[in-house]
Amino acid sequence: MYGAVIFLVCTLYASALDNGQMLTPPMGWLAWERFRCDIDCVNDPKNCISEKLFMDMADRLSEDGWRELGYVYVNIDDCWSSMDRDKDGRLQADPKRFPSGIKKLAQYMHDRGLKLGIYGDMGTHTCGGYPGTPLEKIELDAQTFADWGVDMFKYDGCYSNATEQEQGYPLMSKALNATGRPIGYSCSWPAYQGGLPPKVNYTQLGEICNLWRNYGDIQDSWDSILSIVDWFFENQDVLIPAAGPGKWNDPDMVRNLLKHNFFPPVFCR
Ligand SMILES: *[C@@H]1O[C@H](CO)[C@@H](O)[C@H](O)[C@H]1NC(C)=O
Ligand SMILES: *[C@@H]1O[C@H](CO)[C@@H](O)[C@H](O)[C@H]1NC(C)=O
Ligand SMILES: *[C@@H]1O[C@H](CO)[C@@H](O)[C@H](O)[C@H]1NC(C)=O
Repeated sequence: MYGAVIFLVCTLYASALDNGQMLTPPMGWLAWERFRCDIDCVNDPKNCISEKLFMDMADRLSEDGWRELGYVYVNIDDCWSSMDRDKDGRLQADPKRFPSGIKKLAQYMHDRGLKLGIYGDMGTHTCGGYPGTPLEKIELDAQTFADWGVDMFKYDGCYSNATEQEQGYPLMSKALNATGRPIGYSCSWPAYQGGLPPKVNYTQLGEICNLWRNYGDIQDSWDSILSIVDWFFENQDVLIPAAGPGKWNDPDMVRNLLKHNFFPPVFCR
């Protein structure tokens, strides 16, 4: 009963990004926490950021029962791309580590009832030093991701300033929409503004993003998990009203994303 009432209130009053994506909190798997920027496929072929890693994880999600529980996103984080754009100025995957290309990888996910997420950055470079998607590249890169059949895009904020972020995050939202492909949009913007009003405008975020990283990265330690939980607890009066169907706070993987060793989704519900 309460659930029905709350849902009704959300649908009546909360305006969310109108792309039909993430009506429930997204669940899946993300490479960063465990695999970081390991690009050494010669010495560490099992753990390096490569198409094989994402295909392996897709097999696990689809064959071991995770997909049926709702874990459908397989998300690439930083360090997937080549250091150079192609001759048409488009981003391209590292040819050695992703020999089949991102389009084939997206197809691999779709064939298994899964979705592919990819990563970019608002600045001149990604946090790991790969080509960024600054203002003038936003439309081109949004179109590239749509052409590849990508289902979700995480837009990080390293090497950009507050003015560029203020322009870039809404611009990317428009550009993704203009491709005509529904692509879930995850914004790291608030994490670069301290996560709280008055710097962060959660009303605006809900209108332009499906998901946003409020706070720092999760690390492989219990202290890190606790610090994230504490921050969300302390600021719940601001954060709870910001969320609803199609627009969610993202405490990094604490909410929903599995580690390599299948971190139990204790905080999911
Ligand atoms: C683009 O935005 C319009 C208006 O908000 C919406 O109706 C449409 O579904 C969106 N399309 C995509 C692909 O996100
Ligand atoms: C932000 O970066 C842009 C482009 O590099 C620059 O033109 C602008 O002056 C910077 N703004 C601030 C407030 O630092
Ligand atoms: C926050 O964003 C909303 C929607 O875009 C806007 O109407 C409102 O004026 C903004 N609030 C502030 C304090 O800037």
